[in-house]
Amino acid sequence: MPEITHQEIKPKILYYGTPVILLSTRNEDGSTNISPLSSSWALGSCIVLGLGIGGKAIENLKSHPECVVNVPTPELWTHVEKLAPLTGKNPVPDNKLQNSFRYEKDKFAAADLTAQASVQVKPDRILECPLQIECAVRNIRIPEHDPHFAIVEAEALKVHAHPGIILDEDRINPEAWSPLIYNFRHYFGLGKELGKTFRA
Ligand SMILES: Cc1cc2nc3c(=O)[nH]c(=O)nc-3n(C[C@H](O)[C@H](O)[C@H](O)COP(=O)(O)O)c2cc1C
Repeated sequence: MPEITHQEIKPKILYYGTPVILLSTRNEDGSTNISPLSSSWALGSCIVLGLGIGGKAIENLKSHPECVVNVPTPELWTHVEKLAPLTGKNPVPDNKLQNSFRYEKDKFAAADLTAQASVQVKPDRILECPLQIECAVRNIRIPEHDPHFAIVEAEALKVHAHPGIILDEDRINPEAWSPLIYNFRHYFGLGKELGKTFRA
């Protein structure tokens, strides 16, 4: 008999350590909303986002299909946490009210962040984030097995990188860049480099 090495559990959350992004979307009056997210991945020019259907971000993306994926560093975690209890939805939906969320129109001011005009899309970028990806939304899908979330497929149109993290013309320096990681609702930075893949 093989030794029992794992236990079957039913975790309340399954946030197993992904980078935090700050998603800029366009409000109906032309201002920019910011939503912290940890559900995202990028492959080629495709970026996929996981969004709760009760939030302002998905509402905004349905009416204006553009966004900016702003990627913060670990040092910005307190700014991210200032955004955590806020929503751009007014009135605040019941499920968010029960969890002590409150409405905030000006997320930039609330989190001490600076708006920077985008080049190709309407929502603003966040100056303090060293990586900013302007995107066009190409598809929004609600999974049949869980209608509480939307899967948003976006195309990266333009990538802005702070000079301090650029290795050469078209590459990010992995020694200079570090994402903020959301690890089972706790914030972490990266540890020391372990090695590199054969294609690096
Ligand atoms: C670090 C962090 C990660 C989060 N990840 C997600 C996520 O991946 N998807 C999501 O829908 N909400 C996520 N949330 C919750 C939203 O940020 C929250 O619902 C917020 O009210 C959304 O703002 P909005 O309603 O103005 O869009 C996350 C919150 C934090 C603080």
